[in-house]
Amino acid sequence: MKKINISSAFDEYDSESDLTPSDRQLLKEARLSAVQAYAPYSRFQVGAAVLLENGILVKGNNQENASYPLGLCAERVALFAAGSNYPEANIKAIAITAQSSQFSILQPITPCGACRQAISEYEHRYQHPIRIIMAGESGKILVTYSVSNLLPYQFTGDDLKSKT
Ligand code: THU
Repeated sequence: MKKINISSAFDEYDSESDLTPSDRQLLKEARLSAVQAYAPYSRFQVGAAVLLENGILVKGNNQENASYPLGLCAERVALFAAGSNYPEANIKAIAITAQSSQFSILQPITPCGACRQAISEYEHRYQHPIRIIMAGESGKILVTYSVSNLLPYQFTGDDLKSKT
């Protein structure tokens, strides 16, 4: 039997100033995006920023709805905007963070299960790992080099190949 240990796939930083300049910049943009979130129901404002291979940065934040299940997470707003506006560009990285007037967010915000699956789709679409930078309002920052560390044994388009 073989045991798989994924904890070594995450880098933990105590301070934003310890991040690479590129990660720091992306996180800064995610924070700016969180401010503009539409989250009147949860008061949990999430921001995401996606870095494309061509250097373009695409931001997104959560968009809620009075019909709760219709709301969309920040990560998917940002990823879908990137995928629809720059379909040819690899996604290199995504930074995710949150702010709230209601809660203290002292732990890194990690993407929900649905968003992990969405990130996975783009890794497979472009055959390129996506770096993920996760932060709270303060506290440690978590970085990993691929969504496969957050979502092992993924279901992908490879599972939908026909017999011929
Ligand atoms: N949310 C995100 O946008 N991303 C996450 O990774 C976690 C949750 C949003 C959904 C909802 O609008 C609010 O945060 C509270 O769940």
